[in-house]
Amino acid sequence: MSATSQTQQHGLITAQAPSNIALVKYMGKTSTEGNLPANGSLSMTLDSLCTWARVRESRGGLNWNSDLFRGDEKVGSFSLRVPELSQRGKERILRHLSRVLEEAPAILSQVGLRSRVPQGLELGAANTFPAASGIASSASSFAAVTWAGVAACADSFSDFQKAWQTSSELRRFLAKLSRKGSGSSCRSMEGPWVRWEGQDAWRVSGTSVPDYTDLVLLAGKEEKEVSSSEAHVRVTTSPLWQGRVERATARLGHVESALITGDINALAEQVWQESWEMHSLFHTASPPFTYWLPRSVDILRFFAHPQRFQDLPRPVVTMDAGPNVHVLVPTAFAQQWRAQIESAFPHLEILEDRCGKGARGWSEGQ
Ligand code: PMV
Repeated sequence: MSATSQTQQHGLITAQAPSNIALVKYMGKTSTEGNLPANGSLSMTLDSLCTWARVRESRGGLNWNSDLFRGDEKVGSFSLRVPELSQRGKERILRHLSRVLEEAPAILSQVGLRSRVPQGLELGAANTFPAASGIASSASSFAAVTWAGVAACADSFSDFQKAWQTSSELRRFLAKLSRKGSGSSCRSMEGPWVRWEGQDAWRVSGTSVPDYTDLVLLAGKEEKEVSSSEAHVRVTTSPLWQGRVERATARLGHVESALITGDINALAEQVWQESWEMHSLFHTASPPFTYWLPRSVDILRFFAHPQRFQDLPRPVVTMDAGPNVHVLVPTAFAQQWRAQIESAFPHLEILEDRCGKGARGWSEGQ
């Protein structure tokens, strides 16, 4: 009997994948084909700051359909919003869905699952990030689309669901596939701490740090002037690029050890240095660029003297390719930290999300 079939239509499949925040950054590629990174990276997976990707079987072809969302759906306290995607954005994500449908049967068969071929799919996506919050949604979007697309190719959704929960191999296969659409999305499949090296991403086990909460300090909401794809290319022109891969590799080892031994001071120290190093690459590239806004600098200055906050656990402070500052604090101290920040920056908007376990999904209406 063939391992693929054309029977049984699935109903609506929804995948939820969170965003992740890198502690050791993926910056610079050895190959744009498949997004292979110049160095290993490590991130914390978030929970409710996420994307939902929804697919419904159709008569043929792959099409974007933003009407797959009802408009009143929520994740925790965050409302889901369907983003206004440009034609280019839609094409990029549909191209990825097409790659997912091509590769899914081989992946499913490697974990002992039967597959089927959907005639066509309609795809919609919605995010919980507030509109124009400066938070990149490509990691969560590509992870969610990958999950939904592979699930749509499984002969039995419930078998896929079970395999997702029990098979680390399946989770790694999906991470690998997602990476081809957007590099950092491979770190959104699992959580809370995920390491990515070359082709593979996996959950770091044996950690002994407490649960963390990410306080995202929104320093600016403008559209980025330099995309992350462009940043990956431009950093290699910086004189500081020399030795970067070796430094990042050493730091990755220190960060992973700090997570395992529970040394949150060492973690904070390493991550602070890493964030400054990535932004120094931006500032010294040719031509140079920056994501910092005056408000970002005010916030960095506030956190530059950790000895000021000795009665609270030291926060892990980092910035992505954007103006916002992520302040990761042990969840048990999140409200105390939030109060400190609000008193220093009374008008600052703060998003709050805890660490999470990665992607998941469900199906409705067979
Ligand atoms: O996945 P990309 O190509 O959007 O690159 C992400 C790059 C950073 O967010 C700046 C760092 C990282 O590791 O997530």
